[in-house]
Amino acid sequence: MRRPVIAGNWKMFKTRDEALQFIYAVNLEVPKKDYVETVICAPATVLRDLVKRQGENVRIGAQNVHEQTEGAFTGEISAAMLENVGVDYVIIGHSERRQHFSETDEKVNLKIHQSLRYGLIPIVCVGESLSDREAGTTEPFVKNQVIKALNGLGSTQVEALILAYEPIWAIGTGRTATNEQANDTIAFIRATIAELYGQTVADQIRILYGGSVNTGNIEGLLAEPHIDGALVGGASLQPKSFLSLVKAASEK
Ligand code: PGA
Repeated sequence: MRRPVIAGNWKMFKTRDEALQFIYAVNLEVPKKDYVETVICAPATVLRDLVKRQGENVRIGAQNVHEQTEGAFTGEISAAMLENVGVDYVIIGHSERRQHFSETDEKVNLKIHQSLRYGLIPIVCVGESLSDREAGTTEPFVKNQVIKALNGLGSTQVEALILAYEPIWAIGTGRTATNEQANDTIAFIRATIAELYGQTVADQIRILYGGSVNTGNIEGLLAEPHIDGALVGGASLQPKSFLSLVKAASEK
C-alpha cells in the first residue's frame, strides 16, 4: 500500500502575506489524521514562516537546492540551509529548471545525493517534450532521465524518494495527459525501477503525475493503479482547489 501524495508547487507565486493566508486556511481544513501526504513547495522567502505554522498533517518543501555544501554561489540555497529551517521535501529537476536554468541530468543527480545527505525527501521530476511524445520516444527518453537521476543511490534511498512524471507539454497548458497515458508511462517508470533496484523497491516508491492537474481531472488520474498522487502547479495556489485535491486523494 503506497501512501498517496499531493504536493503543491507554487513556483514564483505568493508574497509572505499571501502564503500566510493560504496556510491558515489549509491548516483548518486538512484533517489531522488524514493519510494523504500533503506537501506545499513554496518560494524560499516563505519557507520558515510556513514551517512555523504548518498544521499537523501539512509538510513544507522547497523548489530547488544547490548541489554543493556551501561556497561562493551567489543566490543559491544549500540543503543544510533548508534542513535547518525545518523543510522536509525539495523538488529536483523540474522541467522549468531544466529549461530555464540549464539543469542537466548530472546536476539533478548531484542535487538528489546532496538532499538525501541532509535528510530531505527529493521529489524528482522527469518527463518528455511534445516532440518526444509525437516521435514515440517517450519511454527511452524518460528511462534515461530516471537512470541518470538515480545514479549511485542505494535501494533504501530510492525507496524513500518520490518521483513525479510530468510531461512538459502538459505543464501549465491546460492539456493534461489522458489517464491512460499517465498511467502507462508511470507503469513503465515503475518497471524501470524494478529492473534497476528490484520489485520490492518498485512496489514501494511513490510516483506522482503532474501537468494541468485540477479538481476536474484528479479523480480519474488517481483511479489509475500506478498513479500515487499529483504534483500540482496552478490548482495548488488557492486553498479551495488544493484542499479538493487532498480530499480526492484521501479516497484513493
Ligand atoms: P501545472 O504545473 O499543474 O500548473 O500544470 C505542474 C508543475 O509544474 O509541477
